[in-house]
Amino acid sequence: MRKLIAGNWKMNGLKRDLEEIAQLAESNVQNCDVLICPPFTLLPLCIEGFATSGIKFGGQDCHAQASGAFTGEISAQMLKDIGAGYVINGHSERRHYHQETNGQVRAKAEAAISAGLIPIVCVGEVLAEREAGQAQDIVEQQVRGSVPQAGEVVVAYEPVWAIGTGLTASSDDIAAMHTHIRKILKSMRPDASAIRLLYGGSVKGTNAPEILSCENVNGALVGGASLKAKDFLEIIGAA
Ligand code: PGA
Repeated sequence: MRKLIAGNWKMNGLKRDLEEIAQLAESNVQNCDVLICPPFTLLPLCIEGFATSGIKFGGQDCHAQASGAFTGEISAQMLKDIGAGYVINGHSERRHYHQETNGQVRAKAEAAISAGLIPIVCVGEVLAEREAGQAQDIVEQQVRGSVPQAGEVVVAYEPVWAIGTGLTASSDDIAAMHTHIRKILKSMRPDASAIRLLYGGSVKGTNAPEILSCENVNGALVGGASLKAKDFLEIIGAA
């Protein structure tokens, strides 16, 4: 399966940082799919400015409704309207800071699919759950509760304790969890073997070769190391 290397810029990026995307575009990556999810403010500038680069662009969240009285929200339809291809749903920071539930994440991902976007549905256990031996059960609940039953999706496994901390799960743990997720998806959807499973959490150039060679890892969702083209290109190179 062709790998997807996705960058989540989170609440980072001013207009001057488009220079990083320009550098990515110049590198003319061919070996994998490259996606950047910048803040909403930069999204139209990216889509218009780098239309011929082959880089794909997406949002970091969307509302479950197509339109309406939801101040401050952005709908999947709006993202599609400006030319986005993807949207991240249920990132752990949305689940944590905005109390998003599995049901809400699934509603958002379904809205994304209806609008013609590919949702990247994020799942992952917190440290206490891993230490209590509950990681597989928690992730199973999240996959069953937040991944839509039909439509093209990407699933990202991001152990919460590995996000932004410099810690990464071991190759054995990553392979075990990704194989577990693939099995759950197989019980949910006939197309499960074609669904890309990304790993996320402190992925960088130095650990990317090992992580990307784990069984059932079809790409990476990268936060901090996606902000600078040089760092992100190292990960792309490892794909
Ligand atoms: P990180 O973030 O690479 O900075 O750990 C990953 C993510 O939150 O998607």
